[in-house]
Amino acid sequence: MPVSSTGMTLWRAFSQEPGCPADSSCYKTPMSDPVILVVNGPNLNMLGTRQPELYGHESLADVESLCLAHAASLGLAIDFRQSNHEGDLVDWIQQAKGVAAGIVINAGAYTHTSVAILDALLSVSLPTIEVHLSNIHQREEFRHHSYVSKAAKGMICGLGSHGYVLALDALAKLIGSKGA
Ligand code: DQA
Repeated sequence: MPVSSTGMTLWRAFSQEPGCPADSSCYKTPMSDPVILVVNGPNLNMLGTRQPELYGHESLADVESLCLAHAASLGLAIDFRQSNHEGDLVDWIQQAKGVAAGIVINAGAYTHTSVAILDALLSVSLPTIEVHLSNIHQREEFRHHSYVSKAAKGMICGLGSHGYVLALDALAKLIGSKGA
Protein backbone atom coordinates (compact mmCIF):
# COMPACT_ATOMS: atom_id res chain seq x y z
CA MET A 1 0.00 0.00 0.00
CA PRO A 2 1.58 3.33 -1.00
CA VAL A 3 2.33 5.81 1.75
CA SER A 4 2.77 9.55 1.30
CA SER A 5 5.64 11.66 2.60
CA THR A 6 3.46 12.67 5.54
CA GLY A 7 2.96 9.04 6.49
CA MET A 8 -0.69 9.08 5.51
CA THR A 9 -2.02 6.36 3.28
CA LEU A 10 -2.37 7.36 -0.34
CA TRP A 11 -5.26 5.73 -2.13
CA ARG A 12 -4.33 6.02 -5.76
CA ALA A 13 -6.29 5.47 -8.91
CA PHE A 14 -4.23 2.38 -9.58
CA SER A 15 -4.24 -0.91 -7.79
CA GLN A 16 -0.99 -2.67 -7.02
CA GLU A 17 -0.11 -6.00 -8.56
CA PRO A 18 0.53 -8.65 -5.86
CA GLY A 19 4.22 -8.81 -4.92
CA CYS A 20 5.04 -5.54 -6.62
CA PRO A 21 7.04 -2.82 -4.79
CA ALA A 22 5.04 0.27 -3.90
CA ASP A 23 7.18 2.68 -5.93
CA SER A 24 7.20 0.96 -9.30
CA SER A 25 5.37 0.85 -12.58
CA CYS A 26 3.60 -2.25 -11.34
CA TYR A 27 0.63 0.02 -10.73
CA LYS A 28 -0.96 -1.05 -13.94
CA THR A 29 -4.55 -1.93 -13.20
CA PRO A 30 -6.62 1.26 -13.37
CA MET A 31 -9.50 1.07 -10.92
CA SER A 32 -12.81 2.12 -12.34
CA ASP A 33 -13.86 4.16 -9.31
CA PRO A 34 -13.44 7.94 -9.70
CA VAL A 35 -10.82 9.34 -7.34
CA ILE A 36 -11.56 12.16 -4.90
CA LEU A 37 -8.59 14.13 -3.58
CA VAL A 38 -9.13 14.90 0.10
CA VAL A 39 -6.68 17.64 1.08
CA ASN A 40 -6.00 18.71 4.65
CA GLY A 41 -3.97 21.73 5.62
CA PRO A 42 -1.81 22.82 8.54
CA ASN A 43 -2.26 21.47 12.06
CA LEU A 44 -4.89 18.96 11.00
CA ASN A 45 -2.25 16.27 11.67
CA MET A 46 -2.79 17.22 15.34
CA LEU A 47 -6.46 16.26 15.35
CA GLY A 48 -7.50 14.30 18.42
CA THR A 49 -5.19 16.20 20.75
CA ARG A 50 -5.56 19.71 19.29
CA GLN A 51 -8.27 21.77 21.06
CA PRO A 52 -10.63 18.77 21.26
CA GLU A 53 -13.43 21.03 22.53
CA LEU A 54 -13.40 22.61 19.05
CA TYR A 55 -12.18 19.84 16.78
CA GLY A 56 -13.26 16.67 18.56
CA HIS A 57 -11.37 13.61 19.74
CA GLU A 58 -10.94 11.81 16.44
CA SER A 59 -7.48 11.68 14.88
CA LEU A 60 -6.83 12.47 11.22
CA ALA A 61 -6.32 8.74 10.67
CA ASP A 62 -9.86 8.24 12.02
CA VAL A 63 -11.16 10.85 9.55
CA GLU A 64 -9.29 9.10 6.74
CA SER A 65 -10.85 5.73 7.67
CA LEU A 66 -14.29 7.36 7.77
CA CYS A 67 -13.74 8.88 4.30
CA LEU A 68 -12.42 5.65 2.90
CA ALA A 69 -15.39 3.59 4.10
CA HIS A 70 -17.93 6.15 2.98
CA ALA A 71 -16.27 6.69 -0.39
CA ALA A 72 -16.31 2.94 -1.03
CA SER A 73 -20.06 2.88 -0.36
CA LEU A 74 -20.45 5.63 -2.98
CA GLY A 75 -18.27 3.91 -5.59
CA LEU A 76 -15.47 6.43 -5.10
CA ALA A 77 -11.74 6.04 -4.38
CA ILE A 78 -9.86 8.39 -2.07
CA ASP A 79 -6.48 10.05 -2.19
CA PHE A 80 -6.20 11.43 1.37
CA ARG A 81 -3.40 13.87 2.17
CA GLN A 82 -2.26 16.36 4.80
CA SER A 83 0.51 18.92 4.85
CA ASN A 84 1.54 21.87 6.98
CA HIS A 85 3.07 23.51 3.89
CA GLU A 86 1.08 25.72 1.54
CA GLY A 87 3.14 24.74 -1.52
CA ASP A 88 2.40 21.04 -0.99
CA LEU A 89 -1.32 21.81 -1.05
CA VAL A 90 -0.91 23.86 -4.24
CA ASP A 91 1.13 21.06 -5.88
CA TRP A 92 -1.41 18.38 -4.96
CA ILE A 93 -4.33 20.43 -6.25
CA GLN A 94 -2.51 21.07 -9.55
CA GLN A 95 -1.63 17.37 -9.87
CA ALA A 96 -5.29 16.44 -9.42
CA LYS A 97 -6.13 17.87 -12.85
CA GLY A 98 -6.98 15.03 -15.19
CA VAL A 99 -6.60 12.48 -12.39
CA ALA A 100 -9.18 13.28 -9.72
CA ALA A 101 -12.91 13.70 -10.27
CA GLY A 102 -13.31 16.15 -7.41
CA ILE A 103 -11.71 17.69 -4.35
CA VAL A 104 -12.65 17.86 -0.68
CA ILE A 105 -10.54 20.48 1.04
CA ASN A 106 -10.05 21.56 4.61
CA ALA A 107 -7.25 24.08 4.15
CA GLY A 108 -7.06 24.83 7.89
CA ALA A 109 -5.71 28.32 8.57
CA TYR A 110 -4.74 28.74 4.88
CA THR A 111 -8.47 28.99 4.21
CA HIS A 112 -8.32 32.55 5.50
CA THR A 113 -5.04 33.64 3.93
CA SER A 114 -4.13 31.73 0.79
CA VAL A 115 -4.70 33.29 -2.61
CA ALA A 116 -2.28 30.63 -3.91
CA ILE A 117 -4.63 27.80 -2.90
CA LEU A 118 -7.59 29.68 -4.37
CA ASP A 119 -5.70 30.14 -7.66
CA ALA A 120 -4.73 26.45 -7.73
CA LEU A 121 -8.37 25.42 -7.21
CA LEU A 122 -9.53 27.81 -9.94
CA SER A 123 -6.85 26.50 -12.31
CA VAL A 124 -7.98 22.86 -12.14
CA SER A 125 -11.73 23.47 -12.50
CA LEU A 126 -12.67 20.40 -10.47
CA PRO A 127 -15.85 20.24 -8.38
CA THR A 128 -14.70 21.20 -4.91
CA ILE A 129 -16.36 21.03 -1.51
CA GLU A 130 -14.85 22.99 1.36
CA VAL A 131 -15.01 21.43 4.82
CA HIS A 132 -14.31 22.74 8.31
CA LEU A 133 -14.71 20.72 11.46
CA SER A 134 -15.63 23.79 13.50
CA ASN A 135 -18.22 26.42 12.69
CA ILE A 136 -15.88 29.15 11.45
CA HIS A 137 -18.71 31.70 11.54
CA GLN A 138 -19.12 31.31 15.31
CA ARG A 139 -15.43 31.97 15.85
CA GLU A 140 -13.05 34.92 15.53
CA GLU A 141 -13.80 37.49 12.84
CA PHE A 142 -10.66 36.57 10.87
CA ARG A 143 -12.03 33.04 10.35
CA HIS A 144 -15.25 34.30 8.75
CA HIS A 145 -13.59 34.96 5.40
CA SER A 146 -12.59 32.04 3.18
CA TYR A 147 -10.58 32.30 -0.04
CA VAL A 148 -11.35 28.62 -0.69
CA SER A 149 -15.09 29.36 -0.78
CA LYS A 150 -14.60 31.42 -3.94
CA ALA A 151 -13.66 28.22 -5.79
CA ALA A 152 -15.95 25.78 -3.96
CA LYS A 153 -19.36 24.49 -5.04
CA GLY A 154 -20.33 24.42 -1.40
CA MET A 155 -19.03 24.61 2.12
CA ILE A 156 -19.80 22.47 5.17
CA CYS A 157 -18.71 23.64 8.60
CA GLY A 158 -19.46 22.93 12.23
CA LEU A 159 -20.36 19.26 11.88
CA GLY A 160 -17.00 17.74 12.82
CA SER A 161 -15.78 14.77 10.81
CA HIS A 162 -19.31 14.18 9.50
CA GLY A 163 -18.67 17.17 7.26
CA TYR A 164 -16.25 15.04 5.22
CA VAL A 165 -18.96 12.39 4.77
CA LEU A 166 -21.43 15.02 3.58
CA ALA A 167 -18.82 16.47 1.23
CA LEU A 168 -18.30 13.05 -0.36
CA ASP A 169 -22.08 12.67 -0.73
CA ALA A 170 -22.24 16.04 -2.46
CA LEU A 171 -19.37 15.20 -4.82
CA ALA A 172 -20.83 11.79 -5.65
CA LYS A 173 -24.01 13.55 -6.72
CA LEU A 174 -22.16 16.28 -8.63
CA ILE A 175 -20.05 13.83 -10.63
CA GLY A 176 -22.86 11.29 -11.05
CA SER A 177 -21.04 8.45 -9.28
CA LYS A 178 -22.80 5.10 -9.57
CA GLY A 179 -23.23 4.93 -5.77
CA ALA A 180 -24.81 8.39 -5.41
C1 DQA B 1 -10.51 24.61 10.52
C2 DQA B 1 -10.88 26.05 10.88
C3 DQA B 1 -9.71 26.98 10.65
O1 DQA B 1 -10.06 28.32 11.00
C4 DQA B 1 -8.53 26.57 11.50
O2 DQA B 1 -7.41 27.40 11.24
C5 DQA B 1 -8.19 25.13 11.31
C6 DQA B 1 -9.27 24.16 11.25
C7 DQA B 1 -11.64 23.64 10.87
O3 DQA B 1 -11.60 22.50 10.38
O4 DQA B 1 -12.54 23.96 11.65
O5 DQA B 1 -7.03 24.75 11.31
O6 DQA B 1 -10.31 24.55 9.13
